[in-house]
Amino acid sequence: MEKIVSLCKRRGFIYPGSEIYGGLANTFDFGPLGVELAHNIKMSWWKKFVQDRDDMYGLDGGILMNSRVWEASGHTKGFIDVLVECKKCHKRFRVDQINSKKCPECGGELTEPKKFVPMFKTFIGPVEDSSSIAYLRPETAQAIFVNFKNILDSFHPEIPFGIAQMGKAFRNEITLGNFIFRKLEFEQMEIEYFIREKDWEKYFEEWKKEMEEWFLDLGVKKKNIRWREHKKGELAHYSKHTEDMEYSFPFGGFRELYGLAYRYDYDLKNHSEKSGKDLSYIDLKTNEKFFPHVIEPSFGLERTMLAILSEAYDEEDIKGTKRVVMKFKPSLAPIKAAVFPLLANKPDLIKKARKVYEIIRPHFLAMWDDRGNIGKRYYAQDEAGTPYCVTVDFDTLEKDDVTVRDRDSMKQERIKIDNLLDYLKEKLNG
Ligand code: GAP
Repeated sequence: MEKIVSLCKRRGFIYPGSEIYGGLANTFDFGPLGVELAHNIKMSWWKKFVQDRDDMYGLDGGILMNSRVWEASGHTKGFIDVLVECKKCHKRFRVDQINSKKCPECGGELTEPKKFVPMFKTFIGPVEDSSSIAYLRPETAQAIFVNFKNILDSFHPEIPFGIAQMGKAFRNEITLGNFIFRKLEFEQMEIEYFIREKDWEKYFEEWKKEMEEWFLDLGVKKKNIRWREHKKGELAHYSKHTEDMEYSFPFGGFRELYGLAYRYDYDLKNHSEKSGKDLSYIDLKTNEKFFPHVIEPSFGLERTMLAILSEAYDEEDIKGTKRVVMKFKPSLAPIKAAVFPLLANKPDLIKKARKVYEIIRPHFLAMWDDRGNIGKRYYAQDEAGTPYCVTVDFDTLEKDDVTVRDRDSMKQERIKIDNLLDYLKEKLNG
């Protein structure tokens, strides 16, 4: 884990939040490579679950919503962590995350458990009183339920259908550490899939398969995932049945990666009652009127990133020298190709290499590097997980070809500049 954290900082994937002021626990910023990795994951998710299906609608709801949403959804009363505090070192812990009656840090005595709502509060307008409270959403899901009728009215979908959304969610987490596994603000990619009650088990199983298929297709080994069913006392206030997809993270083994919940008709029914607006569905063929039931696959972006980073990290021994290489699947790699002039002080080489760089750039995210020697540049691009490095050398000036080096095999091939784009397209999209 330390190796991944340090590589992420060194290569510009993930930086600690507010670092120059000593940081802010459980916050992180994505650097240039982290943004690209996150973007590639999100685009792959959107393609599989929205673009490639004809039963799915996209949505981008607000982070701030009327606070009545969170009363109706049950979050102000039911979304709670139960905490204890150490009387000696004053650290706080979630009761469900400690095994003993003593402080896990210093062995001190713990207080009686207290309830705590981990939603961030803010105020709308200049007056800070109970009537101006607004919450930063702790899940993206509620914007979907609140817009359910809007989508019905605009598109008249037939059941089963889903609404998908990705965006920031916020939780006042008190458990610290484990890098981006648990953040105060994080991104969720969520689907509410509306079905008839009798079909819930069928669609639950279907979504289990879909979730697994997408995640494994990012280049993850099957042995590193497993499903775990929530026990009765562990279920969220809105769920009748939940299973977590767990991933074997490099700290502490199998932990929750994603959740799949059967939210029955809890949310639509409650929002109907509390808002006074009818959120039921009418089947136009049978005239049946009912509240659809819901299967909710919920994905966390940061946990996906951490799993992908762990999965990609590799150390190889190359004739006694250690090579660190991030073996991302090409579609996820932040930079697809790096372009180097063999030497940085030869204007002819620079000019030619710039031309090659400009050929690639409109098609793939490419990076220019003319610092240090070629060995150092390969070293940096291996750590960034760049699948191809393209070098312009003196032969290029005569033969109009370049050396293309493959990240995984480290093999080098001469490719004509005229064929370079097709070559990369085939390798990267294949
Ligand atoms: N709408 C359902 C829901 O929010 P959840 O299990 O509380 O369910 C879903 O959260 C997913 O969001 C988790 O499986 C995880 O991937 C991600 N997640 C939750 N809290 C997180 C946090 N503090 N930091 C990073 N990711 C988090």
